[in-house]
Amino acid sequence: MSTTTSQLTIIRPDDWHLHLRDGEQLKAVLPHTARQFARAIVMPNLRPPIVTTNMARAYQARIVSALPDDLRAKFQPLMTLYLTDNTAPAEITRAKSSGIVHAIKLYPAGATTNSDAGVTDIAKCYATLAEMEKHDVPLLVHGEVTDLDIDVFDREKVFIDRVLFPLMQRFPNLRIVFEHITTRDAVEFIKQSSAKIGATITAHHLLLNRNALFQGGIRPHHYCLPVLKREIHRRALLEAATSGNGKFFLGTDSAPHALVHKEQACGCAGIFTAHAAMECYATAFEKANALDKLEGFASFFGADFYRLPHNSDKITLQKKSWTIPERYPFSEEALIPLYANEELHWKMI
Ligand code: NCD
Ligand code: ZN
Repeated sequence: MSTTTSQLTIIRPDDWHLHLRDGEQLKAVLPHTARQFARAIVMPNLRPPIVTTNMARAYQARIVSALPDDLRAKFQPLMTLYLTDNTAPAEITRAKSSGIVHAIKLYPAGATTNSDAGVTDIAKCYATLAEMEKHDVPLLVHGEVTDLDIDVFDREKVFIDRVLFPLMQRFPNLRIVFEHITTRDAVEFIKQSSAKIGATITAHHLLLNRNALFQGGIRPHHYCLPVLKREIHRRALLEAATSGNGKFFLGTDSAPHALVHKEQACGCAGIFTAHAAMECYATAFEKANALDKLEGFASFFGADFYRLPHNSDKITLQKKSWTIPERYPFSEEALIPLYANEELHWKMI
């Protein structure tokens, strides 16, 4: 890695947590990611969700054909399956031998966007989880309980105590990614746990705290799940991401929703960051005086966790001010990106 004050060149990064949607929406958002990243772990929460290896294979083909010609050979979608109460152990064997499915995603039922088909009780999945442990297929976890009586800001911490810790004791050899962590509690938990568990961190959770939800009025474009937390948590995440600890790696959780579904009496959860993902991470790392730690976090640690080779080509980020567009096209709709109409001071060239 080479770094000066004005330019940063690193091995091309990967995005270990991404929502690409489907159809025309997929076509609209995919180039943003494929310009920056070599690979991405593609989340399976479509309607209907991707629950079988055959569905994953078909979705992968749709993604590849949605790529612009100049990026087709350069970007690789890494597929996941959506775990349900009924995922059969045999599906894990098929997923493993397919070579295209890299992990299985656990959404507690009702926890987030398109999670109605998620797991109602983790005990229903024990046989399937045992098969994953045996075949070394990683489990990706949306780590929030869904109980309405638990405060929405506490749902991640309660999930650790009630679900994640017991799960790790039952399946000590299961590799787990605690996705989009948002709390100091999650950071501490990951640091103390075995090497079998890692975590992704989004750019928006490194840059924003929960004040961003209420800055001069209600801000639907800052609403995502897990919801933004207090400043102490943001600081803990930033410290983890910039620490050089290989258990923490990049996952944008870029989650596009049409403007009409965000600006609603009941708006969807999800922040779109793919348009400037690396620029946002560079901004956060620079503020922490840790640009030298960006390459490990963005380009090496996730690949190591997934046991995939490092990429070999490079990207360059330049210190250069630019204004984020007010909106991007999104099929027939509009998509409001993070920092719409605002300036960023890094730009990938
Ligand atoms: C994601 C989405 O829109 O698919 N939303 C979000 O707020 N992150 C789902 C998810 O990852 O929770
Ligand atoms: Zn997500």
